[in-house]
Amino acid sequence: MFHYKTAEEFLTEAESLHLHIPFSDRVSSLAEPVSLGAKTLPNRIVIQPMEGCDSSSDGSPAELTIRRYDRFARSGAGLIWFEACAVLPEGRANPRQSWITEKNLDSFKALTGRIREEAVKAGNPAPLIIMQATHSGRYSKPEGVPAPMIAYNNPLFEKDNPIDKSRIVTDDYLRALTEKFGEAARLAEKAGFDGVDIKACHRYLNSELLSAYEREGDYGGSFENRTRLLREGIMAAKAATGSDFLVTSRMNVYDGFPYPYGFGVTKEGGLVPDLTEGKKLVGILHKELGVKLLDITIGNPYVNPHVNRPADVQAYELTEDPLVGLERIIRCVGEVQKEYPDLCVIGSGLSYPRQFAGNVAAGAVEEGCFKAAGFGRMAFAYPEFAGKLLRGEPLDPAKCCITCGKCSLLMRYGSTAGCVVRDRYYTDLFREVSKGK
Ligand SMILES: Cc1cc2nc3c(=O)[nH]c(=O)nc-3n(C[C@H](O)[C@H](O)[C@H](O)COP(=O)(O)O)c2cc1C
Ligand code: SF4
Repeated sequence: MFHYKTAEEFLTEAESLHLHIPFSDRVSSLAEPVSLGAKTLPNRIVIQPMEGCDSSSDGSPAELTIRRYDRFARSGAGLIWFEACAVLPEGRANPRQSWITEKNLDSFKALTGRIREEAVKAGNPAPLIIMQATHSGRYSKPEGVPAPMIAYNNPLFEKDNPIDKSRIVTDDYLRALTEKFGEAARLAEKAGFDGVDIKACHRYLNSELLSAYEREGDYGGSFENRTRLLREGIMAAKAATGSDFLVTSRMNVYDGFPYPYGFGVTKEGGLVPDLTEGKKLVGILHKELGVKLLDITIGNPYVNPHVNRPADVQAYELTEDPLVGLERIIRCVGEVQKEYPDLCVIGSGLSYPRQFAGNVAAGAVEEGCFKAAGFGRMAFAYPEFAGKLLRGEPLDPAKCCITCGKCSLLMRYGSTAGCVVRDRYYTDLFREVSKGK
């Protein structure tokens, strides 16, 4: 149970754990715009990408997808980061994952138009919309059963069942994938998105490559090789789109696994974040490739889910206090932002503090940990949270996400995902799909 009824209780608990969690009584900084060159973020609230696993089989948005983005559009958030959208059919994480193609382009165009219209109808400025281009790699399940495509064998994940070496993607496949990222960016621009994210997080293919220390060939071993797909994917996206189009990445700077299986840790072992390589990569993306915006995250939702999503009581024992996780993610994001103050960095993992989520986000903005605050589960549970914060109103604890993890469980059960606790549709759905589990 979450017991923090007052800000004082929340801060006292953090202090007792010797953690510094940024906190501001004033959330007005979240309402400030941020310039991204040709485009402007109307405010500092971002809805992070969250898959609903509810697209049509051809990858186009379906009824529940549209319902979800209508809710986000009306929220007032300045940026809607559209969920993982496959660039190749074999890289889909489930048979209902979004997938953009020349054939279904018009359905995405209709959705981006609708998001802007709904936002304006609700009295908000039109948000920026960014499409997350992905290849699910190890977590590919295009027909609903695992069909992994891995960068390398990882005994920490595979344990006694090593994945067949034939599932290791070849260098030729990765070279062709680079072109696919360019193609996805071109399609995203045509479909009315403001930008594209060459996804490199949460241990999907591009993220896994960052730790491919023991892989041979052009995509493994050296820093240059391990970061090749991301760098060249970004270059391909830039080459395929206009100069005003934002090319960005949601990127892991720390995975939470020891060397040689994790990115963002020291070679000497252990799980303490060492962001030397992550910051070097961000520097290259920002200073050499001209990236103006990055969405920084950590962890692997399948293997260490609460590094990525600090959470309250679960059916199993948590390995750390969620405040420890919250502090870690803000600290990692902050290290990147402080190194590159001109870059617009977006923070992650902010739903855990519930009614104080806006205070933590605003505190982190004031302390220079990030320029924009990204919210995932909170937006599923309580899309109105953004408008509340922008108007300086307190969040209603009875409407906030309680970080119970049931939306993720719906995904694991192979169902469509949404908030089981606050959204009646998914409460009923969860009851159905969890029968006998
Ligand atoms: C059901 C669900 C689906 C998600 N889908 C994506 C996704 O498509 N892409 C992504 O980068 N992150 C995804 N995430 C992670 C969120 O964007 C976010 O990083 C995470 O929930 C932590 O932020 P929060 O504490 O605000 O929820 C998903 C999370 C959940 C719960
Ligand atoms: S099911 Fe709802 S309350 Fe539970 S974690 Fe997901 S969004 Fe939050």
